[in-house]
Amino acid sequence: MSYLADTSLNPAALEFLERIERQFHLDDEQLQTILAQFLKEFELGLSKYGESPAMVPTFVTHLPDGTERGTFLALDLGGTNLRVCQVTLLGNRQVEMNQSKYRVSEALKTGEAEDLFNYIADSVDHFLTTADIPLTEDEQLYLGLTFSFPVEQTAINKGKLLTWTKGFAATHAIGNDVMQMLQDALDRRHVHVKCAALINDTVGCLMSRAYFSGGCILGAIFGTGTNGAYVEDMKAVKKLSTDAIDGPLPDKMVINTEWGAFDNARKVIPRTIFDNKLDRESINPRFQAYEKCISGMYLGEIVRNILLYLIDNSILFGGNSSKQFNTHYGFDTELMSNIENDQSDEGVTCRAILTQKMGMDDKLVSPNDIAIVRWGCKIVATRAAKLSGCAVAAIINQTHCAEGHEDFVDVGVDGSLIQFYPGFEDGLRSSLRLLVGENVEKRTRIGLAKDGSGIGAALGALASLHQERERQVQPVLQAGLDTAKASREAAEGVGKAALADSIA
Ligand code: BGC
Repeated sequence: MSYLADTSLNPAALEFLERIERQFHLDDEQLQTILAQFLKEFELGLSKYGESPAMVPTFVTHLPDGTERGTFLALDLGGTNLRVCQVTLLGNRQVEMNQSKYRVSEALKTGEAEDLFNYIADSVDHFLTTADIPLTEDEQLYLGLTFSFPVEQTAINKGKLLTWTKGFAATHAIGNDVMQMLQDALDRRHVHVKCAALINDTVGCLMSRAYFSGGCILGAIFGTGTNGAYVEDMKAVKKLSTDAIDGPLPDKMVINTEWGAFDNARKVIPRTIFDNKLDRESINPRFQAYEKCISGMYLGEIVRNILLYLIDNSILFGGNSSKQFNTHYGFDTELMSNIENDQSDEGVTCRAILTQKMGMDDKLVSPNDIAIVRWGCKIVATRAAKLSGCAVAAIINQTHCAEGHEDFVDVGVDGSLIQFYPGFEDGLRSSLRLLVGENVEKRTRIGLAKDGSGIGAALGALASLHQERERQVQPVLQAGLDTAKASREAAEGVGKAALADSIA
């Protein structure tokens, strides 16, 4: 067994641990099967509503190129804080930003949705009274909301919440239009702001990366939750009828995959008893199956489940636990990251965490215990990273973006795991290499998307403004085309010139 080779554990304990480790291991064949299932589920999600993953059409039809300009308001809701930002896009891939953070309490996350949206509107109001935004009396500020939850969108500024994730559970929100709830709350306070774009954080990530560094094929989050967004050919988005699109028919559309719900039917990812315990005790059992193996919200809890099992089998800490270890979600993923960051032989950080944060008596923590805790973190994080590589490989396959040229494949990322967890990107790349080949893996540039949630929301608000203008221009253009057609029919060759003129 790789991670416990240097311990003095007895053979029976080693065998016990080895059995657990095997359950977390994903071999090459399993990874290939997971990739194939990803592509199947993508196809199904693009063809039918109500599938998992939801493959949400976002009505964002172009990616930015860095020349965009304008001042927008951006809101970012999805974690501990609500962020309100004033974002000025300066063109030339430059941005100016001013922001404030407002704490979202547990009571707001799990109370009445109306209270949550009132709180957001109050925060916007507070921000605007302190910010200096150059607007005339009748000018309205366009707002982009980064809302990091699954929403079924029907326009760039409309979408119904499908389900909460990541510990949010506010009542009377599911099934309602998030933008309308926010607009109503703002209107009740006479805050002169137009809710223009509802943007998932992955879409924001994709747009921000495209604004700053040009072409980008995927915006992916590996943080508290996980998800990815990419640009799809409209032909593949079979579930979206053309009637649903107000304005000219686009060739392409950004799809928010909501891949956290991949394998909800539990077909391909091998589950352990530790995953099952986590799922059963979660606020959304049987949902977000992939996310629960991957994201920061859950990894610490899986490790805690393993360690408790080992304590109960008298393999760890001489069978002793602590209040903190006995607490649901008591072992944070950040602690895993700190433990793995420490390369010292004796695991100084691990001991400090166990005694200072997890309430274990120092005398009860042996060197073998330290080795076991480090091993637990390693097997859970390694599986998470390898599984993450499958999603990236699936998007590379789905978009055919690496075929027929030798350019970079650019992936914009955000989230605490990919940014800070030691070895996470290496693990992701190891399965990516297996699934797309070494050449493509080497050409895959994984780079941080600069504040996707803030800048992405502003870019979303701008995209919405453009769509609004296009819709206003469209009837005029259509009338021009009709007139031109009539004149052409009437006067053949001369009509052609009239058509060209009227379109110009
Ligand atoms: C949500 C996604 C979000 C992801 C990353 C998931 O729990 O369902 O909408 O993009 O977390 O924040």
